[in-house]
Amino acid sequence: MNVLIIGSGGREHALAWKIAQSRRAEQVFVAPGNAGTAESAENVPIPADDLPGLVRFAVENEVGLTIVGPEAPLAAGVVDAFDQSGLRIFGPSKAAAELEASKVFCKNLLRSADVPSAECQVFDDPDHAIKYLKDREDVPIVVKADGLAAGKGVIVCSGRDEAVDAVNKIAKEKAFGSAGDRLIIEERLEGQEASVLAITDGRTIVTLQPAQDHKPAGDGDTGANTGGMGAYCPAPIVDDRMLHWVEEHVLVPTVHAMKRARRPFRGVLYAGLMITKQGPKVLEYNVRFGDPECQPLLMRLQTDLLDVLEAAVEEELDEIGPLRWDPRPAVCVVMASEGYPGSYTTGHPIRGLDEAAKLPDVKVFHAGTKLAGDRIVTAGGRVLNVTALGENIAAAKLHAYTAVKCIRWDGAWCRKDISDKALA
Ligand code: AMP
Ligand code: GLY
Repeated sequence: MNVLIIGSGGREHALAWKIAQSRRAEQVFVAPGNAGTAESAENVPIPADDLPGLVRFAVENEVGLTIVGPEAPLAAGVVDAFDQSGLRIFGPSKAAAELEASKVFCKNLLRSADVPSAECQVFDDPDHAIKYLKDREDVPIVVKADGLAAGKGVIVCSGRDEAVDAVNKIAKEKAFGSAGDRLIIEERLEGQEASVLAITDGRTIVTLQPAQDHKPAGDGDTGANTGGMGAYCPAPIVDDRMLHWVEEHVLVPTVHAMKRARRPFRGVLYAGLMITKQGPKVLEYNVRFGDPECQPLLMRLQTDLLDVLEAAVEEELDEIGPLRWDPRPAVCVVMASEGYPGSYTTGHPIRGLDEAAKLPDVKVFHAGTKLAGDRIVTAGGRVLNVTALGENIAAAKLHAYTAVKCIRWDGAWCRKDISDKALA
């Protein structure tokens, strides 16, 4: 079967690498891909938002299954466009992708399904939001833009003054454009975060091993928020008992509520959780694989991913049986450009990739890279996702950072403490 993967980051490199190992995969294409996906698959120069171009390519190249990496094409209706052309595609419809694309929709659904989440209020008018903040106790609070804002539309505030500034930024200055037409003011939860991802066909839910991302730029979770500076899997904070609890009280009621709302959910259901003293609460849903969580997850997955995703599309997930995992944990360290998550320069030649590739149990997934002649150069903020397996988390961490040390470019940096929370 020919397979098309949409996207160009580390998640898509991991997907292409894993799908290419399937005994049933013939040609694997990535649109538009990066320098790493060009090694595992064939890049095609179609942007992820060119829906007609993607449909045309899939028809002309007899693509049997398309897999969508990022949220933007899902929210734009890529699944609906493929469905209308009779093409098989893994991911939620535009209506179901609202679970990520609208935080207000998500919050209402969580409430109706009785899924634990932070208390919140929704506002269309920023002045009402500011009045609400001034009338209540001065406590830590979170202000969120309703729509998609590339992970930046959430502002965690220590008190009222910061919250008022956040409301002004989102709803008056429109820092995230129309994503800020509505906003949410939410109780700030305390605890460690964890990512529980599941694959569902709308009836059966196959839960993946728990993972943990590292969103802030600095060691010890300090500094600005990023797309994610590293991840590891499994995350011991979510033990088997808690994982079952999350299935029963979070994932199952959500999939049912989506069906009741006539937006049946098919694809990856990714619960971003805060593990509070009262138990896990949902911070948000994403409707796709996490980046970078996907990288350590797929490094450990032994079941043929193509079989699983195809079964989800065919509504036959109940026939897949339990997934097989490498018992060894995996740690993924993101190497980034100088200046990221602020502005940065690109085009810096990357050295040492061959050396890193020779290390056992290590895979360097590419995120922001491209080919310039015969050289691989930087082309984004998050550049490489150095992922390694080990007998335990400490060993996986050591292997990943040993590979990191092989790789150099002007301004390269990474967090030094990825997975330390699991070791504490
Ligand atoms: P979200 O996009 O809603 O997951 O928010 C992005 C990040 O903001 C999360 O990963 C958390 O670190 C933080 N966050 C969101 N909501 C809350 C909350 N209610 N309490 C504390 N932190 C939050
Ligand atoms: N790892 C966070 C995300 O994919 O949104």
